[in-house]
Amino acid sequence: MSKLVILEPIGVESAVATNANLLTALNNENIQMVQGCGGRGLCATCHVFVREGMDNLSPLSSREKRTLGVVTSCNAESRLACQALIQGDGVVVQVPSGLYVTESTNFESMIGQRAEEDILHPVSGEILVEKRKLITRSMISQLGNVRDKFTDYLNQASNI
Ligand code: FES
Repeated sequence: MSKLVILEPIGVESAVATNANLLTALNNENIQMVQGCGGRGLCATCHVFVREGMDNLSPLSSREKRTLGVVTSCNAESRLACQALIQGDGVVVQVPSGLYVTESTNFESMIGQRAEEDILHPVSGEILVEKRKLITRSMISQLGNVRDKFTDYLNQASNI
């Protein structure tokens, strides 16, 4: 049995199997989420806002609550797309805009350009570089530090 999910801002309906996660619906429509922790509920890179139909998703697990607790843009509509399972029709999901710092981000090529999107911290979702801001070499070194710490964080999380 499938369920319908509406994806914003593109306004597309996606049919997914009951109890598939929100990531499945996003992937089906080629909305690529970074999935920095590999779908383990440990990071902010699959954070979405559920505009309607929160009751048609699985309840928040303690891990998801803990992770959302450090996401700076979190509100009552926040879910982690890898953790929220679709149990009924009519869920409306909006993906926050922004480019997350990840293990594979290549910053060198951005030096001297203006950020096309906000550049976000992979765990907290905090804005590290605002959209349209000129990207300097010193910013790149700070972003590289965030990336390295994120890699360490994921390695530690793998051992838990
Ligand atoms: S991919 Fe990291 S929490 Fe979903």
